[in-house]
Amino acid sequence: MPGTPALELRSVRRVYGAGPSATIALDDVAVTVAAGRFVSLIGPSGCGKSTLLRLVAGLERPDRGEVLVHGVTPAEACAAKLIGLVPQSPALLPWLSVLRNVTLPQKINRGAGGRRARLPGFTEREAAPSVAHTRDLLVRAGLGEVVHRVPAQLSGGMRQRVAIVRAFGLRPDLLVMDEPFSALDEFTRESLQDQLLDLWEELRTTVLFVTHSVTEAVRLSDTVVVMAPGPGRIVETVEIDLPRPRGERLLRERRFHAYEDLLRERLRRAWHGGGA
Ligand SMILES: Nc1ncnc2c1ncn2[C@@H]1O[C@H](COP(=O)(O)OP(=O)(O)O)[C@@H](O)[C@H]1O
Ligand SMILES: [Mg+2]
Repeated sequence: MPGTPALELRSVRRVYGAGPSATIALDDVAVTVAAGRFVSLIGPSGCGKSTLLRLVAGLERPDRGEVLVHGVTPAEACAAKLIGLVPQSPALLPWLSVLRNVTLPQKINRGAGGRRARLPGFTEREAAPSVAHTRDLLVRAGLGEVVHRVPAQLSGGMRQRVAIVRAFGLRPDLLVMDEPFSALDEFTRESLQDQLLDLWEELRTTVLFVTHSVTEAVRLSDTVVVMAPGPGRIVETVEIDLPRPRGERLLRERRFHAYEDLLRERLRRAWHGGGA
């Protein structure tokens, strides 16, 4: 429905285990993400970022509070294929070519359009992108030369590129990414950020992105949510008021560094006050 946030978490709590050894992975977490926004979660290891993503993707349920994706439960949203997930390491099918790794899930998903149309405020999604369009996405992602190769013949960065094109190719309404670039070298990482921004600026899918990197968070996001551990919680939400597209030149500007400094300072504070 118009005005319904793409994502809403209300007073969410998630506890693992019981008794004195219980871990409060998330406590009283509230997040609202408007459709089309790029939101990053940043915070030290163990502050509940992956837990939050699993709750959004419907892989786990909160012990308290509520999670809504476009106004429905994550389970309903998953059934209607509203949610796309890019994990830390790309899960490609090893026996399929790059092109088939992207087009096969599109074919499998074709039946989900009807379910999507039954949700309030949704219409049936236009047909899956044509193979020509998919090829074009792969070419733009720098994979034009390798569309007929199998994953074992690709570098790690190329495999993650394929995973990103595949996720966008499914046209999810909400794309959830858990540190997708953390295993890559810095150069590859920057070029994948370029690719991600390029696709996002064209398709305006809502993105929830987890990262350890302050620079990456500032470059990619409209909003950065700073989290702290013990218990996992949100300590600050920072709006990144920088123009787009965010090319290489912006990365060297003082206003970009000012946001990096601000986030680093908030993270330091969150870390030292972590036991609160
Ligand atoms: N399945 C689980 N069982 C027990 N504890 C868990 C489980 N998953 C996560 N935790 C704990 O919950 C906390 C948050 O974990 P996680 O969401 O993975 O943090 P992050 O992704 O920010 O590093 C950590 O203390 C972690 O050890
Ligand atoms: Mg994690």
